[in-house]
Amino acid sequence: MILTRALLAFFATAVTVTAVVVPSVEKPNILFIFTDDQDARIDSLSYMPNVKKHLIDQGTVYRNHYATVAVCCPSRVSLLRGQYAHNTNITDVSPPHGGYEKFNRLGLGENYLPLWLKKAGYSNYYIGKLMNEYTVSNYNNPKPAGFDYQDQLVDPFTYTYNTAVFSRNGDPPVYYHNTYQTDVIHTKTLAALKAQRDKSDPFFLWVAPMAPHGQFKLSEKGHEDIFSEPPISAARHAHLFKDVKIPRRPNFNPANQTKTASYWKLLDQLTEAEVDELDETYRSRLRALQAVDEMVGSLFEELEAQGKLDNTYIIYSADNGYHLGHHRAYAGKTTNIEEDINVPLIVRGPGVVKGHISDVVSAHHDLAPTLLALAKGDEFVPDFVDGGVIPWTEGLKRHPKPASVETFAVEFWWEQLFNEYKSRLSGPTGTNTYKTLRVISEKHNLKYAVWCTGEHELFDLKKDPYELQNIYNSEEVKIQLLDRLDAVLSVLQTCSGASCRNPWHVIHPDNENIRTLSDALDKKYDVLYRRFRKISFKECLAYFSATNEEPNDLLLTESLEQNQQLFTVPPNYPHFAQQKQASLVQQRSESCPHQLITEEKENTQPIRVSRADALRLFSLVPQGVESDIGHSVPTEKELDERARPVPQELVDAHVDWVNHGFYSKFGN
Ligand SMILES: *[C@@H]1O[C@H](CO)[C@@H](O)[C@H](O)[C@H]1NC(C)=O
Ligand SMILES: *[C@@H]1O[C@H](CO)[C@@H](O)[C@H](O)[C@H]1NC(C)=O
Repeated sequence: MILTRALLAFFATAVTVTAVVVPSVEKPNILFIFTDDQDARIDSLSYMPNVKKHLIDQGTVYRNHYATVAVCCPSRVSLLRGQYAHNTNITDVSPPHGGYEKFNRLGLGENYLPLWLKKAGYSNYYIGKLMNEYTVSNYNNPKPAGFDYQDQLVDPFTYTYNTAVFSRNGDPPVYYHNTYQTDVIHTKTLAALKAQRDKSDPFFLWVAPMAPHGQFKLSEKGHEDIFSEPPISAARHAHLFKDVKIPRRPNFNPANQTKTASYWKLLDQLTEAEVDELDETYRSRLRALQAVDEMVGSLFEELEAQGKLDNTYIIYSADNGYHLGHHRAYAGKTTNIEEDINVPLIVRGPGVVKGHISDVVSAHHDLAPTLLALAKGDEFVPDFVDGGVIPWTEGLKRHPKPASVETFAVEFWWEQLFNEYKSRLSGPTGTNTYKTLRVISEKHNLKYAVWCTGEHELFDLKKDPYELQNIYNSEEVKIQLLDRLDAVLSVLQTCSGASCRNPWHVIHPDNENIRTLSDALDKKYDVLYRRFRKISFKECLAYFSATNEEPNDLLLTESLEQNQQLFTVPPNYPHFAQQKQASLVQQRSESCPHQLITEEKENTQPIRVSRADALRLFSLVPQGVESDIGHSVPTEKELDERARPVPQELVDAHVDWVNHGFYSKFGN
């Protein structure tokens, strides 16, 4: 009865807690369903009947929603904070440039979405995967802040479908013997939803299944410590989709490589055997998503039974997209192709148009302010937030802080392309550090990328939706267009807060009418844009260093004096980048005093163990037998009966999982 008892205890205390916060009548509930690595572009949603029935048919599909950093931990933090990764500086999935400990060291978890919703009067629940490096050892150091009830997956078992290990409310981790991970999440989420049935204050329930992410295994022998393989389905779904294949669109394993930068140009066409393997991976992903789809069905049934469907926003999204053989790349994400950055976003709720497909442009950092707008808690959104409100309803259309109209950036920092499920690390590689601009409007659909290698790409997705022709050097592209794209990307490279929502305003501070690329293309600004310093990186680094990529000023200074009379130069304009840097530093030092940093480091420093020890410790939690797990979704009672504590020896060991190939090798 562990689960039920915990929920009852929560509700006993919740009454007194909520009594003192903002009155919450009228506020809608929010159910946020967030999968891991689910594509919007290769049809995964077409295989989810409950998502179609309850969300797509009854809500709006936002087909221009994007992750601005296409890998999970950075993307999740970006969403939680409403910021670009260059402002969170969580740029990787693991230490030293990402992960749960850096997240806390920078104080990011002390001022983020759940705490803002709490102030707005919400009861918050989180069930499933939070972020990398939240482990069996640091689960309560600290416990994630802002949740009334939380039950999160812990590493090193987050990516093992048949070894479901969770820490509930910062309690010592528990595993559920022989139970399929997504089903554990299903049962826990349904229980949480049931437990709030008679409550009147609004809830925010974030459920984050790990599916359809790949599975991690520690190898017994051989060169690699750890390898990763395609997702595993529940036993009841293993037989599905035998004949399904990755859609063969023009960018799938093309005969001629048309991508031109870094590693892309070096990739060989995939062999038939490799393509077969990728097709099987595709089927595994669809099978793994079936348990998620069943959960979606149950959650809707329960909301309906409680009569809360009309006062609940249900949002479905994923941390980043996924590619499988596109432009010859093996399975993975982290690139700037549409398959990786364009993510599902489906919204259903009061005032959201039913059965509609919308072209409104938005990004993950817009979700936090949008949820706060729905929660009537705008005043709790800090100024550092880069995102704005997405016009999901008529009311939100009039919001004073709208999301960026048509322009956003995608960023990445790493040494090479990540390949999942198979080591192609010995094959051609190249750096994966780039800045990408997307402009999407009725008139334009452009992708402009600047790589740390100095290479450039420009794709016109209106004419070339599969990114098959880099037109950066082509005759048809005018220097005037390139100047605008480069300039607005420089602004977004260092933007924060308002300058991310309307980057054109930084360039045209005295002209409110310039809000889009079309506006800025007016010939009279040609000289202004010519004078912009072009984006470049000093060197290729796997992390965000301000001195490596931020120019001291955006305008070329030598021409500043010469041309001063030709146009208005914003008074503080050349110092824009430095100002931003200063505020970033200030913000960091406010939230994490130096003593705290060293103190925490001492407490949580992982301990280096041998591979044999890591393997032994990992095996202390028994793995379920694949073909036997997941015949049915467990009841709460069954789940309680299967719960066992994670052996203390493993908890105490503080294993340095990152040194055993966890995280970075596969870009999870
Ligand atoms: C981001 O973090 C890295 C360490 O992961 C650090 O070296 C770098 O200076 C930080 N960048 C900024 C701009 O603070
Ligand atoms: C590939 O490139 C070659 C040489 O440029 C060209 O002759 C051929 O038609 C191209 N093949 C395809 C499938 O586009």
